[in-house]
Amino acid sequence: MVLVGSEVVGFIALSNVIRWNFRSCSVGYWIAEAHNGRGHATAAVRRICELAFTELGLHRVEAGTLLTNEASQHVLSNSGFSRIGVAPKYLEIAGSWQDHVLFQRVADGD
Ligand SMILES: CC(C)(COP(=O)(O)OP(=O)(O)OC[C@H]1O[C@@H](n2cnc3c(N)ncnc32)[C@H](O)[C@@H]1OP(=O)(O)O)[C@@H](O)C(=O)NCCC(=O)NCCS
Repeated sequence: MVLVGSEVVGFIALSNVIRWNFRSCSVGYWIAEAHNGRGHATAAVRRICELAFTELGLHRVEAGTLLTNEASQHVLSNSGFSRIGVAPKYLEIAGSWQDHVLFQRVADGD
């Protein structure tokens, strides 16, 4: 959960945690519209990456956004992620397979 004081304003989670030689996971998040533009997503993504690289001992965090989701792409760029490229027909949303821009961040020093 993403909290402002005691109020829940959003959600963030790591998923697809794979260990062995990959040590990678995915991150997904949303922030309620009324709270957009205040840096909450950027702060939450930065924090959960720290947890992934320290407490979970992972090497890599991956994220994907719709091509049109420029706000989310800003969040990722501002959180140390690099753009990998476009994955065609990556995720089924509203009944159709939609292209996504994939990003990744690797742990400092790896
Ligand atoms: C995308 C989302 C997570 C952003 O949350 P947020 O708390 O408003 O994000 P932040 O305030 O940390 O940062 C937003 C950035 O996007 C930029 N931005 C916002 N709207 C934009 C737009 N329409 N076009 C381009 N950039 C935009 C902001 O200027 C800011 O970048 P900056 O810090 O370089 O100025 C939120 O809008 C959301 O939950 N959307 C619906 C679900 C979703 O898209 N989740 C992500 C799936 S990949």
